[in-house]
Amino acid sequence: MTKSNIAAVVLAAGLGTRMKSSLPKVLHSVAGQPMIGHLLDRLAGFGADRTVVVTSPGMSAVADFVAPAETTIQDPPLGTGHAVLAARDALADFDGDVLVLFGDTPLLTEGTMQAMVDVRRGKNNPAVVVLGFSPDDPGEYGRLVTGANGGLEKIVEYRDASEEEREIGLCNAGIMAIDGARLFDLLDDVGNDNAKGEYYLTDIVEVARSKGWGCVTVETEDPDEVMGVNSRTGLAEAEAAFQYRLRLQAMEDGATLQDPDTVWFSYDTTLGTDVRIGPNVVFGPGVSIGDNVEIRAFCHIEGAEVDNNAIIGPFARLRPGADIGPGVHIGNFVEVKEARLDEGAKANHLSYIGDSWVGAGANIGAGTITCNYDGFFKSRTEIGAGAFIGSNTALVAPVKVGAGAVTGAGSVIAKDVEGDALAITRAPQEELTGWALKYRLRKQTEKDKAEESAEKKAG
Ligand code: UD1
Ligand code: CA
Repeated sequence: MTKSNIAAVVLAAGLGTRMKSSLPKVLHSVAGQPMIGHLLDRLAGFGADRTVVVTSPGMSAVADFVAPAETTIQDPPLGTGHAVLAARDALADFDGDVLVLFGDTPLLTEGTMQAMVDVRRGKNNPAVVVLGFSPDDPGEYGRLVTGANGGLEKIVEYRDASEEEREIGLCNAGIMAIDGARLFDLLDDVGNDNAKGEYYLTDIVEVARSKGWGCVTVETEDPDEVMGVNSRTGLAEAEAAFQYRLRLQAMEDGATLQDPDTVWFSYDTTLGTDVRIGPNVVFGPGVSIGDNVEIRAFCHIEGAEVDNNAIIGPFARLRPGADIGPGVHIGNFVEVKEARLDEGAKANHLSYIGDSWVGAGANIGAGTITCNYDGFFKSRTEIGAGAFIGSNTALVAPVKVGAGAVTGAGSVIAKDVEGDALAITRAPQEELTGWALKYRLRKQTEKDKAEESAEKKAG
């Protein structure tokens, strides 16, 4: 079945008051991306011809985020049906199928979108296809009232439902596929005589029935997919469900997760094959990991690229711009930001490497710091291939250490070092024979005297 001639209307104008947030609800993130971003990604994958996002005044942040997707303003937001009406002008010349999605439903899959459009275009040409689901706890979701023939009779909102209707387990996911040629005729007949005084999108089902047009449901097997986020608790539940999906996918694609429940992925994390991930590893957005990489316990990685055969952690932090070459070792308490480490370089303990380039096979000793910031400007450090940076070296950028050079432990390197040279800045070592022994004797005598005189005074 063709995917063309489909428009999506994504509703995002609701005030989201239950979030108790100054941020519009749909911009709250799940797996490192605002909820509405997930929907737009799915729509792009699905191949919708056009997308209109409905926002309300004061939500320019949403318009900025979804650009170049078209936005329209619903002012003021008077309900989900009223929200779709706000897209009327944008869809004036459109008579294909309209998918209505809720911006607060970030787990929806392309497969479900396709199933809905297939049914919309299938048998009996129904006007409206509604996505249903049967959650363990139907809570306050709208209920789907089906007729004897299996068709959908109406949708009743929880607040407006009778005791009997509240017993229905089949709920409204909020997602609909509607015949674009009939959509606005249906919406024009929706009123607001209900518990919230809103124009409910859900009422188009009854309107369609009254016109003799068919309405049907498609039920998703996976209630998580249509979880609607209304509160912070709901956001945490969506995060958990999304993480579950990502962990499963990672393992299916050939990664080992020692304790999957403690690994946190981002929506866009990419892993090669035979990646081994220890417990308690967190991936922020923008991470790509090559083949046969080992990421040991307790690492935090974001905006970073890690090439094949590297070993990261335990307890390493890779920040944006970290570019870890093949076979590189990054050990415990090492932080890397905006820095490239070439093949086989090692920084195994307690280091900060920022705004730097480290050549192949270079060894960065424990405690080495690139002093990249002077309070005003950031500067670069370059460390040549095969260089050996002694423990506790401070590299005051801008500075270059040549290939094969050595810096003495504890040195503050503020000037460029030639290749194969030794640079050392610590003071020469002095030795005073017997000094420590004499020192202890002198101090002990002083202490004994002081105690004696204190006793005399007290006695
Ligand atoms: C809605 C459905 C309910 C369904 C549930 C599924 C209606 C009337 N109710 O209830 O049957 O079980 O979703 O999650 O449709 N929005 C606007 N403009 C508005 C109001 C809302 O754009 O004037 C947007 C919101 O930003 C949100 C979406 O529509 O993305 C849903 O609104 P929300 O208030 O969360 O609806 P629910 O009460 O959850
Ligand atoms: Ca909702």
